[in-house]
Amino acid sequence: MVISWMDNVKPFLIAVQIENEIPDETFDNYLALLPEDHRNSVMKYKTKDDRDRALLGALLIRFHVSKLCSIPLQAIVIHKNKYGKPYLPMFPDIHFNLSHSGNWVVFIIGEKAVGVDAEQIKEIDISAAASFFSSTELQLLSSYEGHRKLECFYDLWTLKESYIKALGEGLSIPLDSFWIELEPFITVHTRKGNQNWHFKQYALGDAYKLSVCSAHSSLPEKVTRMTSNELLDQVSLHVSAQIASGHKL
Ligand SMILES: CC(C)(COP(=O)(O)OP(=O)(O)OC[C@H]1O[C@@H](n2cnc3c(N)ncnc32)[C@H](O)[C@@H]1OP(=O)(O)O)[C@@H](O)C(=O)NCCC(=O)NCCS
Repeated sequence: MVISWMDNVKPFLIAVQIENEIPDETFDNYLALLPEDHRNSVMKYKTKDDRDRALLGALLIRFHVSKLCSIPLQAIVIHKNKYGKPYLPMFPDIHFNLSHSGNWVVFIIGEKAVGVDAEQIKEIDISAAASFFSSTELQLLSSYEGHRKLECFYDLWTLKESYIKALGEGLSIPLDSFWIELEPFITVHTRKGNQNWHFKQYALGDAYKLSVCSAHSSLPEKVTRMTSNELLDQVSLHVSAQIASGHKL
């Protein structure tokens, strides 16, 4: 099986903006492109918004792996590790991760471990969230006031979450067992010393923070943005082309 990377070095980062609710008929047509287990995991969500986000996430994974590996969307097997991180047992050299928040679904795919986290910035009681941070991070937070403090909170939060997601071990990693330093460049520290992970933050609009952590030393310059309708159109064209070239769904 030939894997042709779109970019030989850097992972590829995409942010899909959900413009409006996906109409029921359209939703059903795209859901039918997924194998049964993935359909069920999309449909387990109670709200329409969550189901839309989950469907777009499922399509992002399958569309990109399908293009990369030239196999039909439905034939891609996705397993989850014991902490819930999805991976591709058929293609151990392809790594990906997803995050959804508000009206964004963000996806990253690369040749090494990757983690991504997007969060919508909301006015929250930062003191109540102190248990998420180490003493070094709390010290940094305490040096800010007002909106800058809230921004710093979400910077740290999304960076920590992207690190946990790159490792794939979920909240089995105590949140105060490692800390993020923002200056002079973003690094993670654990009690075992400085770790060889690379971080980058991307703009996603004023109300959001987006952070990536990866074993790739070179991260994308920018996030590729598209709307949910553009993604659905791309998936449609790709599936039609595969059918025309003799692939079964
Ligand atoms: C589940 C978790 C991985 C992320 O949760 P989240 O931020 O609420 O959700 P996101 O939208 O960013 O990510 C969800 C996606 O991550 C992926 N994912 C699930 N478990 C994962 C894991 N252990 N590692 C990496 N990725 C994982 C899945 O693709 C999932 O989407 P799907 O269910 O549609 O397939 C986990 O870290 C968690 O529960 N975090 C709780 C939040 C918290 O306390 N954070 C403190 C940070 S300071």
